[in-house]
Amino acid sequence: MARKKILVTGGAGFIGGNFVQYMVDKYPQYGIYNLDLLTYAGDLTKHKHIETKENYHFVKADIADRETILTLFEKEKFDYVVHFAAESHVDRSITDPGVFVQTNVVGTQVLLDASRMTEITKFVHVSTDEVYGELDFDPNTFFTEDTPLQPNSPYSASKASSDLLVRSYNETYRLPVNITRCSNNYGPYHFPEKLIPLTISRVLNDQKVPVYGDGKNIRDWLHVIDHCAAIDIVLHEGINGEVYNVGGHNERTNLEVVKTIIKILGKSENLIEFVKDRLGHDKRYAIDPTKLEKLGWKPTYTFDTGIAQTIQWYLDNKEWWESIISREYQNYFEKQYSSI
Ligand code: NAD
Ligand code: DAU
Repeated sequence: MARKKILVTGGAGFIGGNFVQYMVDKYPQYGIYNLDLLTYAGDLTKHKHIETKENYHFVKADIADRETILTLFEKEKFDYVVHFAAESHVDRSITDPGVFVQTNVVGTQVLLDASRMTEITKFVHVSTDEVYGELDFDPNTFFTEDTPLQPNSPYSASKASSDLLVRSYNETYRLPVNITRCSNNYGPYHFPEKLIPLTISRVLNDQKVPVYGDGKNIRDWLHVIDHCAAIDIVLHEGINGEVYNVGGHNERTNLEVVKTIIKILGKSENLIEFVKDRLGHDKRYAIDPTKLEKLGWKPTYTFDTGIAQTIQWYLDNKEWWESIISREYQNYFEKQYSSI
């Protein structure tokens, strides 16, 4: 029997990269094709240990490049597509929204067309809880799959737009799809512009940690491996056309997260610097994952076990994040943090 082919877009990034490794190890019977443009967020050094495996393949391409994508799909006849590739950082979407529309909306539409034309078995669109907008601080309210979409940032608006395109290809062309909407991930290979790896890297270098506003905004944190397992289940068990929320009930204020990291690393809370708030900063995200749990998923990490594992990973892999920061220093980190 021919080996099934899974196209993973964005597999050089944080979550896609973890997912590629998870799938290559777990399913030697599948061919895993990692398609990535290698933007500032992409990096292939993380895949050194799998790049010689015969079930792993890499393709450098832009998901919005219609001709290249259609030609690739015609040639490879993928069975499944798991779509992670995106511009993912909210702060960057506030200063430069255009590329978010190009990659997240146009790129998704190109992949949907290619999937439709080559009659794939399943398209899993990896989306985000941010498409639902924000919750207030009432701890009894959660995002469910029926919560209306009310995105507040250019990033979340571009993701919500792509979700609607995916939904429409299911309704109009009967393309088999699922959409997953996950809460904030953390874990190995998280790009050091995001709160948790930024805090770990700066605390380790005794640099100030910028906390936006009063630090009371709440995020619901999930270890990246638990997200990978959720996507694996949705890929194999998800009911055609359905949306699944992914989250592990690990709500923390940003200040709690930063203080936890400082405490584990044995440093002083004087490193915390309250800075100007993010424009349109969503107050709170919190996920109700009941629907996904009914497919048999449950997270394996609590926030306490996950953050301890993650900090240890950053201690053990200093070379990786230092090289990323130095590569992107002039383009990003210097402009962003030289004033604190
Ligand atoms: P990331 O920024 O770490 O990685 C994105 C990857 O996509 C990079 O490897 C980049 O090179 C690639 N890419 C960007 N533009 C491309 C293009 N035009 N063509 C091909 N490849 C391109 O992102 P992440 O944090 O791993 O997020 C992955 C997905 O998961 C995104 O769709 C994001 O919306 C979603 N998501 C992220 C989180 C989170 O907490 N990080 C939570 C929920 C959902
Ligand atoms: O909820 C899922 C989303 O989580 C994903 O869809 C996004 O791709 C991902 O980037 C993440 O978005 P956030 O904006 O929540 O993540 P970020 O790490 O940028 O910020 C987390 C919180 O920390 C947020 O409330 C803003 C705050 N923050 C962030 C940075 C970078 C700070 O206080 N200081 C900082 O320097």
